[in-house]
Amino acid sequence: MPVDVQLLDAQLLDGRSRDGGATAVAHPNIALVKYWGKRDARLVLPYTDSLSMTLDVFPTTTSVRLSPGATADEVTLNGAPAQGEAGRRVTAFLDLVRERAGRAERAVVGTSNTVPTGAGLASSASGFAALAVASAAAYGLRLDATGLSRLARRGSGSASRSIFGGFAVWRAGANTDRDTETALDLASHAEPVAVGDLTPALVIALLDAGPKAVSSREAMRRTVETSPLYRAWAESSRDDLVEMREALRHGDLATVGEVAERNALGMHATMLAARPAVRYLSPTSLTVLDTVLRLRRDGVPAYATIDAGPNVKVLCRRSDADQVSEAVRAAASCPVVVAHCGPGACLHTGNR
Ligand code: PMV
Repeated sequence: MPVDVQLLDAQLLDGRSRDGGATAVAHPNIALVKYWGKRDARLVLPYTDSLSMTLDVFPTTTSVRLSPGATADEVTLNGAPAQGEAGRRVTAFLDLVRERAGRAERAVVGTSNTVPTGAGLASSASGFAALAVASAAAYGLRLDATGLSRLARRGSGSASRSIFGGFAVWRAGANTDRDTETALDLASHAEPVAVGDLTPALVIALLDAGPKAVSSREAMRRTVETSPLYRAWAESSRDDLVEMREALRHGDLATVGEVAERNALGMHATMLAARPAVRYLSPTSLTVLDTVLRLRRDGVPAYATIDAGPNVKVLCRRSDADQVSEAVRAAASCPVVVAHCGPGACLHTGNR
């Protein structure tokens, strides 16, 4: 929200600690209108705009310290050296930061995630948002919140939205024949969304915390290239975004929830029609979807959304969160976490 952005801007004027390192905290976000499909994989430019709510649970804390003389980045994830693809993605991201900052030093990066990694609970969103803020500060890149959102996007598309608190929309930007790479990059970033009187809760059913079988990156690519349903979903998603913004402005939870649920189920339909199919939904995911329908029939406004994993998130009124949690827990025999709107990414002032 605006307060967070101002705070971030102010902090970025002097974001580095005395040893040249910086620590940042960011929270995951859950999309109510999803990002699914890249039109440019290198620049991470999506086909459609997306809109999300940043959470107040599962923060990621990331420290970046420059290591003059080192020949490689040293990346630790939850206390253990980052393996394979995870480490490569961090180094590729730091290469981009180094190129922009005109510096060559390698870095020591420590990340602690409180969200299960790779289980469709947006660990890459909080992870790359925190890395963008900490690495920009450590390498002396002076970026405002919009610039940080563009930078975070290059690590993981959904991370562009976690720079902001509350609700945020990530603009896809448009392609024309004359667009340079810089123009394309500048046009695609997140920004805060104006919201009326709305204080929702998101009840997260933790059905499976293990890493997913197919990465969202691969699943998106396969969907765009092979699913005959993809184009139809992308088109309807544009209408969903217009309706969602209107509903948020009016504080209309029922419409927010209906649009979010149909947009998410439509996204999963595109994947199910990919060749070969990508199926993140488990039998228990469907049980929770049934529970949500039953709650609605009983007069409780509750709406489901699901990302690239089996976990179901249920949007409801804050005052109904206990009842919804109880119903989900009873039906799925799983742990449940209740989240609310959370803050945008920020530098940790404690290390200065
Ligand atoms: O940012 P990525 O590459 O992890 O993709 C995230 C995609 C979804 O979580 C499924 C949807 C979204 O908009 O966050």
